[in-house]
Amino acid sequence: MATHANNAARKVGNDSNLSEHHRARAGSASKSVHPMDNFPVRQFRFNFDTVENHNPIWSQSNPDFAIFINALGIHVPHFERFLVKVMRQYRGELSEPKLIDDVQRIIGQESHHAFNFVNWTKEMAKRYPDVLKLDESAKAWFEQAASRRSQRFKIGFTAGYETFTFLGGMIILNRYEELMAVADPTLRALWVWHQVEEVEHGAVAFDFYRAFYPDDEWYRRGMVCYAYSHIAWETLKAFAHMIKTEGFYKQPRRAFKAWKFFAGFAWDLAVAALPVLSRKYHPRNHPICTNSQNAIAIAWRQFYSEGNDLHSLSEKSVKEMMTSP
Ligand SMILES: [Fe+2]
Ligand SMILES: [Fe+2]
Repeated sequence: MATHANNAARKVGNDSNLSEHHRARAGSASKSVHPMDNFPVRQFRFNFDTVENHNPIWSQSNPDFAIFINALGIHVPHFERFLVKVMRQYRGELSEPKLIDDVQRIIGQESHHAFNFVNWTKEMAKRYPDVLKLDESAKAWFEQAASRRSQRFKIGFTAGYETFTFLGGMIILNRYEELMAVADPTLRALWVWHQVEEVEHGAVAFDFYRAFYPDDEWYRRGMVCYAYSHIAWETLKAFAHMIKTEGFYKQPRRAFKAWKFFAGFAWDLAVAALPVLSRKYHPRNHPICTNSQNAIAIAWRQFYSEGNDLHSLSEKSVKEMMTSP
C-alpha cells in the first residue's frame, strides 16, 4: 500500500492539471510548512439536496470507493463526538500550551465534521433501509464507551482511531485522481475537506495520549490494532448492506470487484499503520505525510485561505484551484 500511495502521490504530482507553480509549491512546502502547524477551524455546512440525482454512489471514477467511504462514514461522526467528549473531559489536566491550543482546534474541526456526516447519513438512509439501524448501533457503542470505559481506554482508543483517519486522509488525497477525479461536486468537496483536516490534526490525539501515558507504548499499540478492527467491522457491516441493496450479488463479478476494493483498501490502511507501531513514531514524521506534501491539500488550503467557497468542488473548480497562482 505504501507503494500504492507513493504511486498515487507521483500520479497527482505528475498530473497535467497541476501547474509548475503547484509542483514547486509542493516541493518547497515539504521543507518549510508542515500541514499540522497552526491548522484552522473551518465552518462548513454542506447541502446534500444538491447531490446529483440524489445518488449516493457519488464517484464515477470509482463507484466502489464511493460505497466504501459511505459505509465507513456512518459510524465516523459518533467517534468524532466521542473524541470531543473525551478531550473536553481530560484536557484540564494538560500543561503544554501548544497541545492545549491544538486540542481546542481538533475539537472545532471534529464538531463540524460530525454535523455534516450525520446529515449525509440521513440522506443515505433514503436509499439503504438498514442505515439508520447501523447508525443507531454505532452511536450506542460510543455513548456506552464514553460513560463506562476507563480514562486510559478512552484516551487510548481515541489515539488509535485517529491513526487511521490521519492515514486514510493521506491515502485518499494521494489517490485523488483514481478515486474521485470524476465525481459529484458536493460529496467530493465534503471528502476533500474532511481528509485535509484529518491530516492537519493527525498528531493531536497521539500527543494527548503521550501527555497522559508517556511510557505506555504497548497499550498504545494495542489500541491501534483494536481501533483498526473496530473501523473495519463497522465499515464491513455497512458495505455488505449497501452492495446488497445495489444488487451487486445478482452479478457475482460485480460483487467480487467491490469486495476486492474493500480488501485492498483495508490492506493499504494496515500496511500504512506499520510505522505507527515503532516506539520512535510520531504522526508528523510518518513517511506518507512527509515524503511529499499533497498537491491537492496544499491547493485546497490556499484556495480556502483566499476566501473561496469550497462547499462544492466541480471538476472546473478543482482545475481552477490547482492552477491558481
Ligand atoms: Fe473527522
Ligand atoms: Fe480526526
